[in-house]
Amino acid sequence: MKVLVTGGAGYIGSVVASQLVEAGHETVVLDDLSKGHEDAVPEGTRLVCGSLLDGDFVRGTLSEGFDGVLHFAALSLVGESVEQPERYYRNNVCGTLNLLEAMREAGTGRLVFSSTAAVYGEPQEVPIEETAPALPTNPYGSSKLAVDRLIGAVAEARELAATTLRYFNVAGASGRFGEDHHPETHLIPLVLKAAAQSSSVKIFGTDYETRDGTAVRDYIHVEDLGRAHLLALEAAAPGEHRVYNLGNGAGFSVKEVVEAARRVTGREIDAVEAPRRAGDPPVLVASSERIRADLGWKPEKPGLEAMISDAWAWMRDHPDGYE
Ligand code: UFG
Repeated sequence: MKVLVTGGAGYIGSVVASQLVEAGHETVVLDDLSKGHEDAVPEGTRLVCGSLLDGDFVRGTLSEGFDGVLHFAALSLVGESVEQPERYYRNNVCGTLNLLEAMREAGTGRLVFSSTAAVYGEPQEVPIEETAPALPTNPYGSSKLAVDRLIGAVAEARELAATTLRYFNVAGASGRFGEDHHPETHLIPLVLKAAAQSSSVKIFGTDYETRDGTAVRDYIHVEDLGRAHLLALEAAAPGEHRVYNLGNGAGFSVKEVVEAARRVTGREIDAVEAPRRAGDPPVLVASSERIRADLGWKPEKPGLEAMISDAWAWMRDHPDGYE
């Protein structure tokens, strides 16, 4: 297939774009490089640089003809979304609307969309199934949910073959592709940074009702997550909008992540207890039964230490990230 990857210069988009190239797909990356890195664009792809908010640019790009789009480009910081809700809705919702309209004009029939566990808010039941109520607690989650619903409507009205993948906590690295966010807010890279620089990491909240008082998350290796996109791209049928959660179905606490990082790195890692971070649910663990049953997906690297070890190897090879 000929595939367009929006956000293909970012952490997850670059890994998936490289998997697409490896699988023999003709792959074009669309990225405005506001968060992504030119050096992260995989060999064998072509970079088209511009913003999804520029409707003419998006129409022009799609007009060359694609079989499918994998749509990663978005703003994704929960805290920032609370401060700047308009910016989050404009980027995430209006950007996707431009993309969908350009896809319609160009006759592009397939879409895989990056969504998030944040659409579920504070879950009533764990593990979380796709049928759980979607009650996001921040503008990031609600902007992604709005897009999910828009895609569902467009799939039905325009015979689009669409899949929404709701990611839990993505971790690890893949060969020369790794995580380099500015600012970095995610636990695993911050723990590894503390290991590398002999500095400290904060543990946000030690009074949750969990086994050790710290928050529990479902970590999934970025390569396993990536493979789900390739399966989803092939699977959906015209007029169908599928929704799948993507996690391992096992949760690890913040303290367990720090312990695992100590084992992997062989370093002390100073962890300082701190108050809860606003808006963090206590436990987020996915049920991925639906994607396992429908697409035959299963994680090949479910171990937390394997994820941390790959992230650590990448960090040591790229002490200054992609710069
Ligand atoms: N944490 C710390 N110290 C840190 C950073 C994080 O204790 O320095 C804790 C957080 O409070 C949280 C856990 O580690 O309990 C994981 O935090 P991350 O920031 O790594 O990930 P989140 O679970 O907050 O975020 C992920 C995705 C978001 C998505 C969200 C859904 O990265 O895109 O899940 O709630 F919105």
